[in-house]
Amino acid sequence: MEVTRERAWDTLTRYTKSQALLRHALAVEAGVRFYARELGEDEELWAAVALLHDFDYELHPSLDEHPQDGAPILREEGWPEEVVEAVLSHAEHLGLPRDTPLKRALFACDELAGFVHACGLVRPDGIETLEPRSVKKKLKQPSFAAGVHRDEVYAGAELLGLELDDHIRNVVTALRPIAGELGLRTAAA
Ligand SMILES: [Fe+2]
Ligand SMILES: [Fe+2]
Repeated sequence: MEVTRERAWDTLTRYTKSQALLRHALAVEAGVRFYARELGEDEELWAAVALLHDFDYELHPSLDEHPQDGAPILREEGWPEEVVEAVLSHAEHLGLPRDTPLKRALFACDELAGFVHACGLVRPDGIETLEPRSVKKKLKQPSFAAGVHRDEVYAGAELLGLELDDHIRNVVTALRPIAGELGLRTAAA
């Protein structure tokens, strides 16, 4: 099977109906694409993996099942092992090695994309003027977006070999063009 963004979107939307989950997939896709471009990697492959990483979450909303029980479904649909393995690697509880740039970028963008999104929801101009400084301030407030694992945000930047500021700036930059799709206010709106 040829790995395309379009096919990944098709698989994702057959299993996922929640707007919040679809927005999460789009946000992680944007972040991962940013790094694919920067590293000169296969953007289509990276985008597909990002879109698929939580594709089974509605079906398997607990860590007893997600994402490990999604893997056989992906294989059945014909997704190559490279995609399945990368999808599986995002889950901390599986303890799989993040031994490719794609796996590292996926892990690094997963929690941070959600957090940046949350920051944008409480700002009058969304993420238009969001600076790393204020993201970091919010990271230190445990009650804000409490579901986001701070340790995974920090570990992600480290895994990419980036300063946290730079990683945050990259993800914010990546999300700006799709702010509208993410339900964030934009300067134009
Ligand atoms: Fe997940
Ligand atoms: Fe995720």
